[in-house]
Amino acid sequence: AQDGHELWLRSSKAQPVNVVCSEKSPTLSIAIQELKDGWQGKPGTTITLTITKDKAIQYDGYKLSENAVQANNNKGILYGVYDFLRRQQTGESITNEVNNPSYEVRILNHWDNPDGSIERGYAGHSIFWRNDDAFAVTAQDKKLWQEYARANASIGINGTVLNNVNASPQILNPDYLNRVKAIADILRPYGMKVYLSVKFSSPVLLGKLKTSDPLDPEVIGWWKAKIKEIYSIVPDFGGLLVKASSEGQPGPQDFGRTHADGANMLADALKPYGGIVMWRAFVYSANDKDRAKQAYNEFMPLDGQFRDNVIIQVKNGPIDFQPREPFSALFGAMKKTSLMPEFQITQEYLGHSIHLVFLSPMWEECLQSDTYQQGDGSTVARCTDGSIYQQKYTAIAGVANIGLDTNWCGHHFAQANWYTFGRLAWNVNLKSEQIAEEWLKLTFYNDPSDKLGSSDYNASWTSDFLKPVKQMMLDSREAAVNYMTPLGLHHIMSANEHYGPGPWWAPEKMRADWTPPYYHQAAGNGVGFDRTLKGSDAVEQYHQPLASQFNDPATCPEKFLLWFHHLPWSYQMKSGHTLWDELCYDYDKGVQQVHSFQKTWDKVQPYVDSTRFIAVQRSLRGQSQNAVLWKDACLLYFQQFSQMPIPYELERPV
Ligand code: GCU
Repeated sequence: AQDGHELWLRSSKAQPVNVVCSEKSPTLSIAIQELKDGWQGKPGTTITLTITKDKAIQYDGYKLSENAVQANNNKGILYGVYDFLRRQQTGESITNEVNNPSYEVRILNHWDNPDGSIERGYAGHSIFWRNDDAFAVTAQDKKLWQEYARANASIGINGTVLNNVNASPQILNPDYLNRVKAIADILRPYGMKVYLSVKFSSPVLLGKLKTSDPLDPEVIGWWKAKIKEIYSIVPDFGGLLVKASSEGQPGPQDFGRTHADGANMLADALKPYGGIVMWRAFVYSANDKDRAKQAYNEFMPLDGQFRDNVIIQVKNGPIDFQPREPFSALFGAMKKTSLMPEFQITQEYLGHSIHLVFLSPMWEECLQSDTYQQGDGSTVARCTDGSIYQQKYTAIAGVANIGLDTNWCGHHFAQANWYTFGRLAWNVNLKSEQIAEEWLKLTFYNDPSDKLGSSDYNASWTSDFLKPVKQMMLDSREAAVNYMTPLGLHHIMSANEHYGPGPWWAPEKMRADWTPPYYHQAAGNGVGFDRTLKGSDAVEQYHQPLASQFNDPATCPEKFLLWFHHLPWSYQMKSGHTLWDELCYDYDKGVQQVHSFQKTWDKVQPYVDSTRFIAVQRSLRGQSQNAVLWKDACLLYFQQFSQMPIPYELERPV
């Protein structure tokens, strides 16, 4: 059945292959088996897997040639084998090149709670935790974890945080740690390490200490003992992820200490075991004038104060995983501290598992943004992958979209976002188009004769399925921006759920920075958040020439216009439209784009199995309805302030 459970790993009938490998390990056994199960090359070929000491190969990188995979360690061999098989299936040639990962730590963050629920998860319950306090590991658990590990290994993901950043202290109790061990044992041969999120007040909540002050000797001792215990259970444990002094979570600031005090205390305890601390920079408080500035304000003064096994984990944008944000000004600015980007694979603000939104262009946009911090070409990617700054560890995190749903991610196309995260973490310079094409070939190619490139079927599949569906994927993120938050608008989603529109939502006594009007500032005199020198001054956090560019509406890219400026409704856009009209056209364009996705999809029916065809068709209908709702709700709401008509050639609100 084509229920999507196989993800992008649907090998066709394998040809016989001989594999020569002089060493033995569980990881190498997997590599050998994968070759035997998936070989699509010349029947009877002999492939050699060799562990070498090649200085050109870094970390778990590898070198492929026509009949061989070389690497410096077992994991590299495994990744090389998956690459080999991917190339065979997609028809990409095998070149004699060294292939090194961009980031050393390529890690998923699961926002899974011990009760099995998932914060911002739209694909069912947790694959790791259950609601019944049952810690016994079943055969089914093991099978699922193995499939999960294999999928991750196939795209180079080598770590996973097993629980929510809003961490329950329970996670450090022995029952949970034993389950962590069981998960780690399954993931290990696939090259994946496990990590945990911890609550900063665990010493009080679990250890019954009087304080969780990071400078208190008893607290330090408690964490040391706890970390020792973890390593006695999971010897290759990866480290800790911490959300502290953020959104009501406890943290070092509760004791008048800094983020550095908190992070370093944990880093010192982890150091003897080679563990790392990923300390999140997602911080903002109720009384800040501009939430977009706060992470920078809190962390910049601490640059240089963190231990070398601390990595500051920074969301791509300064607010919160919006459909479009400029990159966080912290990238490149903290020059003496390791930084890692955090992306959100789960579509909290991008239509949950109902909307088809391919996130690769969004991440590519962030990674390739020039920060100018060390001259031209100081992209976010180069500032974080070790190219520009010497970091002891380089890392990148993605908030997972994985749950117990048969197809793992809720929406069949949401699998592409998991796939993309792994591929970009491995090679930060991959283009969205290549990733989409690879993924479609691996996931949807369905030749009845079962041989890629062998028949007329292949030609028509390429022109009538691959081409239009790839284009739909590539356009989908911009479409979502258009029908949700065009021109730099942000955070106008409905409260809590963050699914539909809610620009009007502002109950009395609610924290202002949790209500949409705080972000759009719509009034009779215009719309947008003034972050210029005359406003909140957030532009100053960016290196020149960006600060000046963003500060002036004439030079600010229009996609960020209302992020940085509050402008009159009659403001003249580059197109010649007024700002109000432009907003109307953009919302309408988004709706039209989704309608066109429906047409594209309906037309490819002959190429898709009925299960997946119907599921995607149904979701696109929901997305279309929601896009119309977004357009109508936002335009009718903003129209109260603009007092201008919706251009008459556009569809009327329904
Ligand atoms: C968002 C999200 C929360 C999450 C938080 C975080 O605000 O809505 O559910 O906890 O990000 O990243 O910590």
